[in-house]
Amino acid sequence: MRKQIVAGNWKMNNDLSQTESLLADLKKQTKTTEAEVMVAPTFTNLHQAFDTLRNTDIEVVAQNMHFAENGAYTGEINASMLKSVGVNTVILGHSERREYFNETDELLAKKVDTALANNMRIIFCFGEELADRKSGNEENVVGSQIKNALFHLEASAFKNIVLAYEPVWAIGTGETASPEQAQDMHAFIRKTLADKYGNEVANTVSILYGGSVKPANAEEIFSKPDVDGGLIGGASLKAEDFFAIVNAF
Ligand code: G3P
Repeated sequence: MRKQIVAGNWKMNNDLSQTESLLADLKKQTKTTEAEVMVAPTFTNLHQAFDTLRNTDIEVVAQNMHFAENGAYTGEINASMLKSVGVNTVILGHSERREYFNETDELLAKKVDTALANNMRIIFCFGEELADRKSGNEENVVGSQIKNALFHLEASAFKNIVLAYEPVWAIGTGETASPEQAQDMHAFIRKTLADKYGNEVANTVSILYGGSVKPANAEEIFSKPDVDGGLIGGASLKAEDFFAIVNAF
């Protein structure tokens, strides 16, 4: 049985007091499903979030991480810093990092290796642009993103990897992929994994969908056989909306 996961990517939102307020609201929510729940505050709020959520079943995860163990990388954060504040899971490859910070498949492969070497779990993001989908090239794009960053790994590495398909054209736009579009791509991703690593790996890796998931559409998207949950942006900033999605399985 694959893990069902709903992770909230707060992106560059919430200062310390806003974080404390949202965390307090999250603690008041009730989870009615078996889904694993995660939230990803910004770096400056990770320690507070870990401390506040310590005795809950909400895991605190990071939105990014540098590949180096330490050194002259002004403004960056490494794995041991994240682990030192209780964070053991990191989002890598988000389209906004690829777009605004020029993160390539090759750079992401290095970040993946460092996260695994530090026994961290990874939520690895990828997804096509609108132009790719309009030209029918979405599977080639997604396939190469996965292969270039992950297919140097041994099969055993995938016990620490969660995949997150986020069509760029659906992120923050309100243009959610249809449940059928999500299922088709998730099935392609799972077949791509199976062709390389076999069915056992392919059938244990959780594949999340991200891109304008809301309380109104989550249940139908999550009902699809190869969708194992969601990576949630905007709707994760309100505790009630976020838990409406958590409870949508
Ligand atoms: O990482 C999740 C995010 O990219 C999706 O954002 O606002 O479309 O749910 P949103």
